[in-house]
This record gives sequence, C-alpha cells and structure tokens, in this order.
Amino acid sequence: MSEPRESQHGQWSGRWAFVLAATGSAVGLGNIWKFPYITGENGGGAFVLVYLACILVIGIPVFMGEIIIGRRGRQSPDLSVRSLAEEANAPTIWQLGGLMGILAAFLILSFYIVVAGWAVSYIFTTASGTFKGATPDVVGSTFDGLLADPKRVLTWSTLVLVFTMFTVSRGVKRGLERTVSLLMPGLFVILVLLMGYAMTNGAFMEGVKFLFKPDFSQITGNGVLVALGHAFFTLSLGSGAMIAYGSYLGKEISITKTCIIVGAADTVVALMAGLVIFPIVFGNGLEPGAGPGLIFVTLPIAFGHMPLGTIIGTLFFVMLTFAAFSSAIALFEPPVVWMMEKFKTTRNNAILMMGAYLWIVSLGSALSSNLMSETHFLTIGGEPKNFFDSVDHIASNIMMPLGGLFVALFCGWVMTTKATSDELALEESPVFAYWQFILRYVAPILITLVFLNVIGIIDLSPA
Ligand code: PHE
Repeated sequence: MSEPRESQHGQWSGRWAFVLAATGSAVGLGNIWKFPYITGENGGGAFVLVYLACILVIGIPVFMGEIIIGRRGRQSPDLSVRSLAEEANAPTIWQLGGLMGILAAFLILSFYIVVAGWAVSYIFTTASGTFKGATPDVVGSTFDGLLADPKRVLTWSTLVLVFTMFTVSRGVKRGLERTVSLLMPGLFVILVLLMGYAMTNGAFMEGVKFLFKPDFSQITGNGVLVALGHAFFTLSLGSGAMIAYGSYLGKEISITKTCIIVGAADTVVALMAGLVIFPIVFGNGLEPGAGPGLIFVTLPIAFGHMPLGTIIGTLFFVMLTFAAFSSAIALFEPPVVWMMEKFKTTRNNAILMMGAYLWIVSLGSALSSNLMSETHFLTIGGEPKNFFDSVDHIASNIMMPLGGLFVALFCGWVMTTKATSDELALEESPVFAYWQFILRYVAPILITLVFLNVIGIIDLSPA
C-alpha cells in the first residue's frame, strides 16, 4: 500500500493518548477481579510466573499484530482485515475473523456491564458503612441480596451502559481519549494509596510471598492454560478492541514500543492489585482461594474489620469502577464502528441501535442471578450453566482464543513480510524475525492447545 490510509473515525492525539486508552482497555475487571482470584485458585507464585511468560512470549506479539491490522486497515476490524487480505491477494473470507472479534466484544460487554454495575453499587454500599463490623454472613448476604434483586442489578447495569454510550458518542478525541486521561491517573493514584495501606496495615510479606514465591508443585497443566487464556482477556485480544484502537494510531508511532509499554502497565496493575488484595486477605485470616466472590465478599469482610476500612473499601470500588468503565468503552467501540460502516450511518445512530441490542442481551446476564437463575443454556463440563456463564464461556474461552489464533495466522502467514515489517519498522532487526516466528508457530500451537482444552476435547486437569 503506497499511500497510508487516513483513519476514518478519528485519531489519537499522540502516542501517550493511545498508551492511556489501550491501557484503559487492558486494565479492567480482568486485572482487579479475575487475576487475583484465579491466582488464588491456582496456588499463587508459580501461576503468576507462567502468566507473566504468557504475556511476554505470546500476548505482546499478538497484541502487536492486532495494532498492525488496525493501523494498516484503518477501518472497523472486519473491513480492516478484508482490505489487508485484498492487499495480500488472499481470500476475503478472512474478514470473518474480524467479524468474530466484533461479536465477541458485543457478548463480553453484555455481561461486563452487569459486573461493572455490581462494582458501582458497591461504592455506595461500602461508603454507607454497611460492612463496618459486619460478620461474614452479613457480608455474604449483602452480595447475595444485590444479585437476587433484578431491579437493582438492572438499574446499575443500565446506568453503566448509558454512560458508555454517552462517552463513545463523543468520538475518539473528546470521548475515549478525554475519559481515559481522567480515569487512568485516578486509578493509578488510588492503587498506590491502597498499596501503601496494604504495606503498612496488612500482612504484606505474606502477600508478596504468595504472589512471587513459586511453588511448582502447585501448577497443573490446566493452570498453564488458564494463564494463557487470561493473558488474552487481560490484554483485550481477540475482541476487535485493539484493532479498533490501532486504527486511530498515527503512522509515525512505534507499535513495538507502545505495545511493550501497555503490556507492562497492564501487568504492573494486576500485580499491584494482588499486592493490595492478598495482604488484606491474609492479614484478616481469610482464604485466598474464594473464587469470583474474592473481592465482593472476602475483601469486604476485611474492610469491615480494619482501621479506615470504610474509606479504603470505598476507594477500592471506585478504582474497580474506573477500570471497568475504561474497558467498557473499548468493548463498545468495535461494534459501533462496524455498524457505522455496515449501515453507512452516523456514530450517534449506530450507538443508539447497538446500545438497544446490548441492553436486550444484557438482560439475560442481569437476570441470571435471580429470575432466570434456573434457566440453563449450555452444559459445560457436565454442569448446566445459566445465561451469564454461558455467554462468558463462549466469548472469553472460545471466541477470544480463536480470535487470537486468527490474528497470529493472519499476520504470520497471510500478510506479506513486507507489509508487517513496514508497519513495525523493524526490517532487518532480529526482533522482527522473533516476532514473526512467534506468530507463525509458537502462538498458533499454544492457542490451539488452550482452545482444545476449553472446549473439552482434551482435559489437562488432574483426574
Ligand atoms: N481487558 C479487559 C479486562 O481485563 C477486558 C476486555 C476484553 C476489554 C476485551 C476490552 C476488550 O478486564
């Protein structure tokens, strides 16, 4: 492609705007909610090491691939892929890979706004002193009480959706960029404050040991695959989000450097979240392996019993809300630009239509913990699953790894070496050869393993 295309929907004002936005997308519920609890479930240090290796060896190279597709294609994820396939004289059916990412983003957002809604409601629950001195039973029933009330769950998730629609309606610079430039520094300041607190008030060294002292007897084959799957989720890969964000990136900015910075920032936030949560959990004699309830139940028990617990707890849920919101806007952008291009309509029309569809699908997840808790959609590993869990499984465990596989194959084998090296501007460097080797061989093989595991063809968990 001789003339670089102009991006059709806007452009970041510079490298740091992109770094903030991509970090905002990457840092989310995955870092603060999911990473600590899967680390707890998978035994700590050894799992963390494997996760770090996955980010470094596979996550960042695939991330670079997504940005290449976005920046060279300059359109919605599916049309970007299509035009690059045309450029390489490859079948345009590759476009389906981009389309699957967009669908994955839509499905993830449909339950993401529900969990983000819990986080927002917990700001008020915690600030009002509900957990002060509360027994584990009271804390548990506060969470169960929220989930059991369809009106409350729906009100909060609808609010998150409306704010997401509003932000995205203001476009790349005034909407996405301005929002992340407020939220991300805010999130970081709160995180540092909370870590300072955990260092002085929690069982900090115990937390450090749990996160960083590897005990390889604790890691299972399944744990390795969970780590790789999470590396995708946390870097927002396989969802079209990074392709869309890459399409607003200026030609002069180094993809390699920025992707490394974003990957590092995302990892640092996950580790810091762990260093906030585990010292507080251990310092209060609680269990790290509590699963998804770790931050909504275990942590509030601790907040109820520690000095300044109400303030610290409230700040924690404000931070979680910031993280979730800057990811929600990244999840909404790919379906919105897809609709703008597909139906040749304005941003606002696309947002209204997509928002309406999203709200309808999100009803299924919002009602999964109450009115529809007995309605099962999929059977996973022999267990019937409600709508929420089914959509999460299809989008995060099937569509995302498949999307990552698609990106690896597309950048490694379909796009010409000239095109990819032109974007990375690394022509003769061994870094380029390494990157291409990873995308051609290592990533496809490992992702295929994850994929086969999650759809249950092979099972690496101990019998
Ligand atoms: N990376 C986000 C998180 O860790 C989730 C996400 C996935 C955001 C895909 C955008 C796209 O929570």
